Amino acid sequence: MEVLKNKKTLQDFIERQREMGKKIGFAPTMGALHDGHLSLYEAARAENDLVISSIFVNPTQFNNPEDLKKYPRDTNRDISILQKSGLVDAVYIPEVHDIYPEKAESSHYDFDGLENEMEGKSRPGHFDGVGTVVEELFNQVKPDNAYFGEKDYQQLAIIKKMVDKKHLPIKIKGVDIYRAKNGLALSSRNQRLTEERREDSKVIYETLIKVNEWFRVVSISEIKNKVKDIFDDQKGMQLEYFLIADENTLKETDFFYKDKSYRAFIVVMVDGVRLIDNMHLD
Ligand code: PAF
Repeated sequence: MEVLKNKKTLQDFIERQREMGKKIGFAPTMGALHDGHLSLYEAARAENDLVISSIFVNPTQFNNPEDLKKYPRDTNRDISILQKSGLVDAVYIPEVHDIYPEKAESSHYDFDGLENEMEGKSRPGHFDGVGTVVEELFNQVKPDNAYFGEKDYQQLAIIKKMVDKKHLPIKIKGVDIYRAKNGLALSSRNQRLTEERREDSKVIYETLIKVNEWFRVVSISEIKNKVKDIFDDQKGMQLEYFLIADENTLKETDFFYKDKSYRAFIVVMVDGVRLIDNMHLD
């Protein structure tokens, strides 16, 4: 596996691969790799000649400086996970100036309102930061296909929107949420929880399963009350938000309409760690 530590080495590498006509699959990450990332690489492996990943903790997408400081970083561990997986041909690990040559600042994006829902309300500026770094990485890596986990469903929708609006020649592929045995969605943040709290947090997934059972059976306001009751009974967990949204516009809905598809979204604080999850309702 090639470890590409700056923009120049990446560009030389990409040029060589393009000359050989290789189809490139790309999965950007912020490191702290886990099995959820490996599932992105597996999806990329199946559809491309070459799989590239990146590790870059993007400062512009953290609205909370404490969160940026606490973000787990261990590049040697990540490289060794990638090497052992055998799924990735090259990893790009840029420095801040390779991505932001002048100032680490976001550009402003209009994602047709997707950016104003859910995480956009809780984390102002977050999606401008994501758009900025992903667009720059796309420009540098020039992938044919790019892979993102559905755990960050709103991020996936926003990246699809950006590619669409800017007519970038890249296909965006969503990959199913990868869950631990107990159902907890895998996230780099889970490392900050004790084993016991990770076990307790399975209630998030279990709640989503129940919501899916209640879907179109009881009203949304009733579902919301039931979810609130579940988390009122959980010690040390605070429900930040739970809502059901139109899967395409991501706008919260109070009623189920016949021809629309819906998804439930949830954010819970567990011992100060913000866990997010979602589920398509059917
Ligand atoms: O999902 C992530 O890890 C990040 O938001 C991404 C897409 C790598 C951009 O920094």
